[in-house]
Order: sequence, then C-alpha cells, then structure tokens
Amino acid sequence: MKNKILLVLSSLLIFFSSCANEDQNAQLVLSTPVANPAKEISDNGFRAKWNYVSKAPTYLLDVSTSPAFTDFVPNYNAKVISDLNDLVTGLMGGTQYYYRVRAQSDDLIISEYSNVISVITTGTNNIAEDPTFLKVKVNKLANPFFVGMAVKANQLDSGSPYDVILKNEFSSISAEYEMKMDQISTASGVYNWTVADKIVAYGNSNGINVHGHALVWHNSVPTWLANYAGTDAAFALEVKKYITDVVTHYKGKVRSWDVVNEAVEADGTMRNTIFLKRMGANYVNDCFKWARAAAVAAADSQLLLFYNDYATSDNIDKQNAAYTIIDGLVASKLIDGVGFQMHNTIFTPSKAQIESDINRAVAKGLKIHISELDMQVNPGNAPANLTATFTNELRLAQKEKYKEIVKIYNALPAANKYALTVWGMKDNESWIPFSTDLNHPGNDWPLLYDASFGLKSAHTGFLQGLD
Ligand code: XIL
Repeated sequence: MKNKILLVLSSLLIFFSSCANEDQNAQLVLSTPVANPAKEISDNGFRAKWNYVSKAPTYLLDVSTSPAFTDFVPNYNAKVISDLNDLVTGLMGGTQYYYRVRAQSDDLIISEYSNVISVITTGTNNIAEDPTFLKVKVNKLANPFFVGMAVKANQLDSGSPYDVILKNEFSSISAEYEMKMDQISTASGVYNWTVADKIVAYGNSNGINVHGHALVWHNSVPTWLANYAGTDAAFALEVKKYITDVVTHYKGKVRSWDVVNEAVEADGTMRNTIFLKRMGANYVNDCFKWARAAAVAAADSQLLLFYNDYATSDNIDKQNAAYTIIDGLVASKLIDGVGFQMHNTIFTPSKAQIESDINRAVAKGLKIHISELDMQVNPGNAPANLTATFTNELRLAQKEKYKEIVKIYNALPAANKYALTVWGMKDNESWIPFSTDLNHPGNDWPLLYDASFGLKSAHTGFLQGLD
C-alpha cells in the first residue's frame, strides 16, 4: 500500500514538472508574424503593416531594396517598433522595396521572419539609368557576342540620333523589313537593291555585323510570286533563283542569313504556306541547300545559315516541330544556327522554358541568335493586365525580364554565342503596339529606349544581365 502511494505521488510529481517545462518552453517560442500589403504608398515612403502576435510587445522591421535582404535601408535593419505598423519614409521614388518583420517578447525572444512584402514607391526614380554602352560592356566579357538591333534604312543617315546610338551601342544589325523578299524582288529575276544595299553598306562601313533577315517567309511573298501561274517545279526554280541571287549579291557583306523564317505552326504541324503547298515538305531543306550552294559558288565560306522561329519556348509541340526541321538540316550539314525571335512578355516564357528550348540547339553544336528580342508589358491576350500607362511596376518587371534573358544568353558556351538582337530602338516605333497578329490594344513599351531616345530601366537591366 505504502509503495502504491509512493508510486502515485512520484507520477504526479513527474506530471507537474513536465507541465512546468512546457510552460517555460512556450515562452521561448513566439508565433511568426504575418506581414500585410503596404498602405499609404507615396513618392518617398509607405506604411508597412503586420498582424498581432501574442506576447510580443515589439516587432523588428527590415526594409531592403533586395528580396534577399542582402542590404538594408538605413535605420531599417531590425528597427524596433512597438506597434502593428510603421511609416517608412525617406525612400526614393519609383523604386522597388521589400519588407519583413519579426516579433519580439519582453525578454527579447525573437520569432521567425514573416513573409516578405514587395512595394514600389510612386513618382519617378531620379536615379539615372546606367549609361554604359551595351557593346562596350559586352566586348569586355571573356566571351563576347554581337549586340544587334533591327533597323530601317531611313534611320541610318549620318548624324541622326539613331545613327549615333547605333554606332555607340550596337555591333550588329538586322533589317526590320527591307531585306525581305517582297521588298527586294519586284518581278521574276528583277531586284530592287537600293534600300537593302544602304543597310548592308552602313554595317560594312561602320564595322557593324550584318545579319540577313529573311530569305523565305510566308508573310513577305511578293505579289508576282503569290500569283505565280507556272507549274510547281517552275515556282521552286523561282525561289531557288531568288535565294541564289540574293546570297550571291551579298557575298562577303552579310555574315548570316535567316534562310527560312517561321515554318511551323503553334499546333506542331508544318505551316501551310505557299512554299509548303508548291514545293512540298522538303522545301526547308531545299532552301538551305540552295543558299549553301550559292555561298560556296561565291567563295563565301564564312556565311552562317539560320533557321528562325518564334514562341517555341512555351509551346512544346511547336518546339518539337521546329527541332524536327533543325535535326533534318543538321543531318544534311546545312545549318549553322537557330534564331529564337523572343517576342516575349514580362510574364512568359519562363527562364526555365527559355533555357531548355535554347539548350536543345546548344546540344547540337549550333549557334544561338536571340534574333528579335522585345518585351511586352501589356500583352493583348491577358486583358486583366491591360493598362494605358507604363507604371513603375511594369518598368521594373521589364527591367528584370531583360536582365534574365541577357543572363541566360551570356551563360551560353562561347562556341554557341552569335548575337542577341533587339527588335528596334524606341518604344513608339516598335512593331508591337501596331501588330494585328498580336491582337494588341495599342499601348506597349517593349524596347530599351523611350519615345524621346531616353534610356529605360530595361537598358540598365540588359547591362546588369552581363554581370
Ligand atoms: C515585322 C516588322 O517588325 C514590321 O515592321 C513588318 O511590317 C512586319 O514584320 N517575326 C519576324 C519579323 O520574323 O520579320 C517580323 O517583323 C516580326 C515577327
């Protein structure tokens, strides 16, 4: 009996002492606070907010321009606050900030970090964009590449702002439309070289690489060829003659050609163009064969032949179809590189999608041309995002997305690098806002310069991608 009483007493003692331990432990752990979206956002600050945590009379607030909090806004590295909000002031306008909090007890026990809240101040950022010239920074890299721009002949008069910027910033040009078939070929065997020659001569006389765009494209078929009444065999001979004559005319002057542009459809089938209809499924191979033969006959052993297409990174069916064509050309030893147009948006494609698309061409030993880069901030297929203003949020998101793609490109092996070309200079002259294909609402700002030749944050993002 005595033993039983002792057992009960000692069990009770163990029970009470373990309860006491739990009480002590409870004091050691504070719940993690939840940070809320900022309020009262202004040009120089905002109100940071968070939820109450039991037994936490104070909170520690961090504010940073980096999402990883690698640096802190002065005085906001664990600033002690005895409230559930704080008015953060003294910040820069139009700038991205991040904040997070921890809860703190009377005896200085500290909780885990809260979630991170992102906030962009209103107004304009008076910090000048990085004025470093793109090609100057690229040419200092261990493995440089051409920085290209799509041009129009009327921009190239000596002393024009385009001319000055081009010579400072860019080391390669592509004709935006004036070297396409409907511009050069006026009738069978009849050519208008004037405008195309001006573009090529500009590159050649200024030490700027010239990329030829594009020999065969369904959207630039001259009327005479679209209405061609001859047989299919005669049609094919017309295409052969065109390719041969153009490659020969520009031997040694144009370093690379997009031989065929956009041969596959979004659903992974061959695009049903006049070339497919009249020349058959092997037409892409034929065009490359004729281009190569013309280069060889003209003793132009340096000429690089590219297959160029768009929207392959986030559409695996289309990507596979493009690579089926590319594989055929690799097997026939007719192709040197792949052009990825990259008419992208700030939302898509993702970094991983771009990398896995490009890496398929890298694995085949091909050169990579990011050939028509621009970055919509207001894509027409996402009506919820439509906006009539280029807000700071969009400006900074675009900067990050430019940085991302330049980083991806710069990380490629030296042997696979060729050029990274942006599709125009100024926002107001970009094809994007006016493209009916894109079902676009009219407002967008996809390039590196604004309408007044001012450097955009996208340009700074491009430079940061090279770091
Ligand atoms: C566009 C040009 O930007 C426009 O000026 C022209 O009117 C039509 O073509 N894919 C291509 C480019 O390969 O040639 C297109 O350029 C954009 C889509």
